[in-house]
Amino acid sequence: MFLLAAYLTISFVLPIVLSGSPEFLANLTDLNPPTNLQTIDIQLGELTITWSDNLSEDIKNHYNVKYIFDYKYFDSHTWEIDIRLSTPDYTKTFELHRGVYVRVKNVLLNIEDKKKQMKESNWTVKGIQPPPGDPETLVSNFSCVVYNHSNMNCTWSIGSKAPSDTLYIMYYRQSETTTRCAQYFMDAQGRHGCHIEQDRIDLEEDVLVCVNGSSNSTMILPYYTDFDPQIYEKYDPPLNVEILPNLTVKWDKAPGYAIQDDCFEYQLEVRELAENRIELLSASGKTKFLLGNINPSKRYSVKVRVKLKYCKETKFWSDWSNEDFIEPEHTFNVMQTVFTLAMITVLVILLLMFAFRRYKVLAIIFKPIPDPQKKFKELFEEYNGDFQKWIGYQIPISKADEFYPVVIEESINFEA
Ligand SMILES: *[C@@H]1O[C@H](CO)[C@@H](O)[C@H](O)[C@H]1NC(C)=O
Ligand SMILES: *[C@@H]1O[C@H](CO)[C@@H](O)[C@H](O)[C@H]1NC(C)=O
Ligand SMILES: *[C@@H]1O[C@H](CO)[C@@H](O)[C@H](O)[C@H]1NC(C)=O
Ligand SMILES: *[C@@H]1O[C@H](CO)[C@@H](O)[C@H](O)[C@H]1NC(C)=O
Ligand SMILES: *[C@@H]1O[C@H](CO)[C@@H](O)[C@H](O)[C@H]1NC(C)=O
Ligand SMILES: *[C@@H]1O[C@H](CO)[C@@H](O)[C@H](O)[C@H]1NC(C)=O
Ligand SMILES: *[C@@H]1O[C@H](CO)[C@@H](O)[C@H](O)[C@H]1NC(C)=O
Ligand SMILES: *[C@@H]1O[C@H](CO)[C@@H](O)[C@H](O)[C@H]1NC(C)=O
Repeated sequence: MFLLAAYLTISFVLPIVLSGSPEFLANLTDLNPPTNLQTIDIQLGELTITWSDNLSEDIKNHYNVKYIFDYKYFDSHTWEIDIRLSTPDYTKTFELHRGVYVRVKNVLLNIEDKKKQMKESNWTVKGIQPPPGDPETLVSNFSCVVYNHSNMNCTWSIGSKAPSDTLYIMYYRQSETTTRCAQYFMDAQGRHGCHIEQDRIDLEEDVLVCVNGSSNSTMILPYYTDFDPQIYEKYDPPLNVEILPNLTVKWDKAPGYAIQDDCFEYQLEVRELAENRIELLSASGKTKFLLGNINPSKRYSVKVRVKLKYCKETKFWSDWSNEDFIEPEHTFNVMQTVFTLAMITVLVILLLMFAFRRYKVLAIIFKPIPDPQKKFKELFEEYNGDFQKWIGYQIPISKADEFYPVVIEESINFEA
């Protein structure tokens, strides 16, 4: 009985609660897909796509109608899930040289609970062919750099099959204004480029670019791209890099950047100059860094560069800042000095000991002092202090004493 009640509730009551109108569910088995899908070329790859949903007024009154839009480049295998829209039109920038499919479908949502999807139609697909031109006339390796507070350089390599008379022209678009680049250059690697100096780039808005070209002999395939200029910004290097005596490196952020400090990543290059050993260190957000690992007897150079890492990640590091140096310390090293002194003392003692043994210096130094009493003993004991008598007796002896015996060795002459 309870089970039957539950079954009836699920079968009949639930759909009524969800859709509000049971008779529509039967009709919705074949929801019409959108029709009349059209593209309007705005400029530089920006297209507005429009369609008709081809749904009856009745359906529109009972459901919340939405449109799902996807796209896929001809050279890609996956559809990019893009956006759910309320109106039957959408504006987006495409890399048109690749060719692109766009597709739209109708989706009915519950009119009260808009998260609940009731029904969706089949897709309606449209292919947008690339503009005419051999793909090998297309520019390659296109890249831009924004620097010096919104100057911009873009560079590219010419297409491999582009005739020698090909003239490439770059157009860029911001704030609904399309500008033809006026200042062209060729860099050291032979890459072509355009330099934008007069019109500064607005960092808050995407830049649209088209590089097309003309030649007398063939059609040149135009190149389309768009990008966030903040990601291609090359920052000015940090200023006033200085190493404090306590080995804290500090520096200043280059002026004129209105970005919060904790978005920045700094990189320090610490170079030990004698052996040219380099250590790279990271400092996030802060404009100082305490160095460890410094050998006080060596000389180092330190420099810093910067990029955005944490809020958006920029493609490029800034140039390196100025360098500051850590000079080797010539301080009085107590341990070393004590050790050296000890070594010298030990050496001196050893040398002296050697000298004493070799030259019997000790024996000379400690030779007993002659005792006059021994010599004068006779004077007092036998001559009773009579010096005259004693001297008469002493003289011959003392004379003999003065002569040392000389041994004359006879040399034997073997040749004789
Ligand atoms: C839905 O189908 C019923 C009959 O099953 C029909 O009377 C009604 O007109 C249909 N409604 C729509 C919007 O097609
Ligand atoms: C939706 O697509 C299927 C299969 O491609 C097809 O059988 C069906 O008729 C289509 N429905 C409508 C309303 O076009
Ligand atoms: C709109 O849908 C109806 C079916 O409801 C179909 O017959 C008609 O061909 C569709 N319109 C277009 C322009 O495809
Ligand atoms: C592309 O250009 C960059 C400079 O912008 C260069 O470093 C790189 O080597 C180039 N790559 C190719 C494949 O030409
Ligand atoms: C940077 O821009 C200023 C103008 O804001 C200009 O005077 C200066 O020459 C530029 N510097 C470089 C290196 O391009
Ligand atoms: C941009 O191009 C100009 C002109 O060729 C050149 O002077 C400048 O150094 C370039 N700057 C960068 C960051 O590439
Ligand atoms: C290149 O593109 C610009 C801007 O869309 C256009 O005005 C110009 O006619 C094009 N040039 C060629 C040769 O296609
Ligand atoms: C290093 O010295 C500076 C100023 O001389 C001081 O502001 C800083 O706090 C010191 N840092 C450390 C880690 O001692």
